[in-house]
Amino acid sequence: MKEKIETLLAEIEALNCKAENEIEEARVRLLGKKGEITKLFEEFRTVAPEMKREFGQKLNQLKTAATAKIEALREAAQESSVSSASFDLTKPGDPFRLGSRHPVSIVREEIVEIFRKFGYDVAEGPEIEDDWHVFEALNFPPEHPARDMQDTFFISSSANSILLRTHTSSVQVRAMEKLPLPIRIVCPGRVFRNEAISARAHCIFHQVEGLYIDENVTFADMKQAILLFAREMFGAETQIRMRPSYFPFTEPSAEVDVSCNICHGKGCNICKGTGWLEIMGCGMVDPNVLEASGIDSKKYSGFAFGMGIERIAMLKWQVKDLRNYFENDIRFLREFETVI
Ligand code: PHE
Repeated sequence: MKEKIETLLAEIEALNCKAENEIEEARVRLLGKKGEITKLFEEFRTVAPEMKREFGQKLNQLKTAATAKIEALREAAQESSVSSASFDLTKPGDPFRLGSRHPVSIVREEIVEIFRKFGYDVAEGPEIEDDWHVFEALNFPPEHPARDMQDTFFISSSANSILLRTHTSSVQVRAMEKLPLPIRIVCPGRVFRNEAISARAHCIFHQVEGLYIDENVTFADMKQAILLFAREMFGAETQIRMRPSYFPFTEPSAEVDVSCNICHGKGCNICKGTGWLEIMGCGMVDPNVLEASGIDSKKYSGFAFGMGIERIAMLKWQVKDLRNYFENDIRFLREFETVI
């Protein structure tokens, strides 16, 4: 057996076949099911116990040597076949399209980045919420008609209902409950309203809402923050105007319009001839809302604002049908390939 091992070792060392089929033949002859080395392993069972150690080691060496040699021959064979093949390295590569970011993500990042520069932090919260954070703490008493403004998807309607948030103002309540003052945050996120899906409405959309609470915060501060935001977002020439409005959680409240960045105020079909585009709601946080979250409304005041991301994206790219944002039609998404 010892001699046999020596002969095989020498044979392996001398192996020098180049063709892949020859290498495979050598492998089968040595290591295959009925190969020489496999046979030796079978014979090993009959070796006297005191010799087992020595033979065992030798056999293992033999097997390792054979495996390594076959592997080396294979690699050499492959290399030579690659270098001898006739590849045309000057041919252009196969076109490979990069994916694109979703327009909602692009605009959300843009909005958040602008406010980050103004010193706002980002706060996020759950999409499945309770009645307190979406309505009650925001000054919507039970049965308040203002709840009809936002058709809610309820999950359970016990005393403190569980529901899908209809706005990210719920995140602002959570922030007021736990963050130290002053608070300066933006809350991006997905919201849900029970609306029939059409070109102008969807049951899912995205918002960025903002909140600033400190001592002596005034309506003028809010106007300035929104004006600066609008100029960063829509261009340095942008003007804003505010129209009185109503939200249960702010008093006074306003809708914000920006001057139409398509026709620059002359009137076009995007601004429906008015020269203005509505972009957000805002207002001074109602003292009841501050108190509900344990903030002293005599000492502190603040403003809040909220905008729909799809709406801003529609204005930015003149996408007329809201459904485009949710259908993931590759032809639509590819329009944003260059906007990385
Ligand atoms: N939460 C309001 C909405 O979803 C937007 C808003 C936020 C309005 C803050 C005023 C102040 O419609």
